[in-house]
Amino acid sequence: MSSLISKYLPWLLVLLLRGGVAADGKKKVPAIIVFGDSSVDTGNNNFIPTIARSNFWPYGRDFADGLPTGRFSNGRLATDFISEAFGLPRTIPAYLDTNLTIDDLATGVSFASASTGLDNATAGIMSVISIAEQLDYFREYRERLRLSKLGEAGAEEVVGEALYIWSIGTNDFIENYYNLPQRRMQYATAAEYGAYLLGLVEAAVREVHALGGRKMDFTGLTPMGCLPAERLGNRDDPGQCNEEYNAVARSFNGRLRGELVPKLNRELPGLRLVYADTYDLFDAVVRKPGAYGFENAERGCCGTGLFEAGYFCGLGTSMQLCGNANKYVFFDAIHPTERMYSILADTVMNTTLHVFL
Ligand SMILES: *[C@@H]1O[C@H](CO)[C@@H](O)[C@H](O)[C@H]1NC(C)=O
Ligand SMILES: *[C@@H]1O[C@H](CO)[C@@H](O)[C@H](O)[C@H]1NC(C)=O
Ligand SMILES: *[C@@H]1O[C@H](CO)[C@@H](O)[C@H](O)[C@H]1NC(C)=O
Repeated sequence: MSSLISKYLPWLLVLLLRGGVAADGKKKVPAIIVFGDSSVDTGNNNFIPTIARSNFWPYGRDFADGLPTGRFSNGRLATDFISEAFGLPRTIPAYLDTNLTIDDLATGVSFASASTGLDNATAGIMSVISIAEQLDYFREYRERLRLSKLGEAGAEEVVGEALYIWSIGTNDFIENYYNLPQRRMQYATAAEYGAYLLGLVEAAVREVHALGGRKMDFTGLTPMGCLPAERLGNRDDPGQCNEEYNAVARSFNGRLRGELVPKLNRELPGLRLVYADTYDLFDAVVRKPGAYGFENAERGCCGTGLFEAGYFCGLGTSMQLCGNANKYVFFDAIHPTERMYSILADTVMNTTLHVFL
């Protein structure tokens, strides 16, 4: 009998740990806490005065009950799939939803805001929630947990054991740097502006660490030059990916992964910051969509698929839509479909986030 146990014990432990449940029955990651832009906003912009919204049809078309939630996709986002993979709720709620209970809050929440960036000036373009404000909401969240039935110790446990996910930076380049003159006058090259943004990443990570966060993932940029809207805007090579933008993303990711992440892990006690790469997968999918079961990687499902996003995607019920969004990499001209998000989430779980399971 005891030899049976010793034979199977390692397996039993593997099974237990795979579900994210530690030997004492507690979840190793009790909450997923999210900062960022539309790639991870689960509905915060519904509650602020901005036009950067998606809480209307056809967004959410393939969500439970076809419900538009404020997610810029036809269904769930990568962070929703990641939450589920950690044994947490299937969807991460938006912090500004006033109906959330302490139990909802304690398993994770998103502070993200569509159209925002690391740079305050990016958040200003569409009057959305800046990173400084997302961090203010995080401080308020921490207080709410402390003052709840969880108490000081319970709140500390959630904050200290949670996984913090950052997904942000694309808008700083495509909405701000390449689109408006101000930052280009201050930073002669995209690389210099990138260095400024990396300084903001550092400050934000230090801030969450100072507030008690330890397990963190900073997600790299995708090949943003291959977004349908950027293909349309590519003057040199119409319809093709903007390779300059892609090179900027690779260079930013390289410095994030190669320099900043190791430096912060060295300097901040107890920090476990990982870099999650989404560039390579995205690049592979865009080059060979068929290999991943997609038929279209060049246009979004919504409208012409080339420029419509937000309100332009919601104009009228006569709006042309693709039949099966699972065949499309993009739902609108900027944002991935649920199926693409699910593949991204699986990949990031397999390559990076499994260390926290
Ligand atoms: C909160 O719940 C009430 C009652 O279910 C509902 O009418 C209301 O729309 C909800 N508010 C939000 C912001 O979801
Ligand atoms: C961004 O704006 C906030 C509030 O407006 C301010 O507190 C913060 O210092 C600004 N950050 C930077 C880097 O300018
Ligand atoms: C992730 O790993 C699982 C289990 O090994 C495998 O079934 C799945 O295909 C992998 N997914 C991706 C996208 O790599």
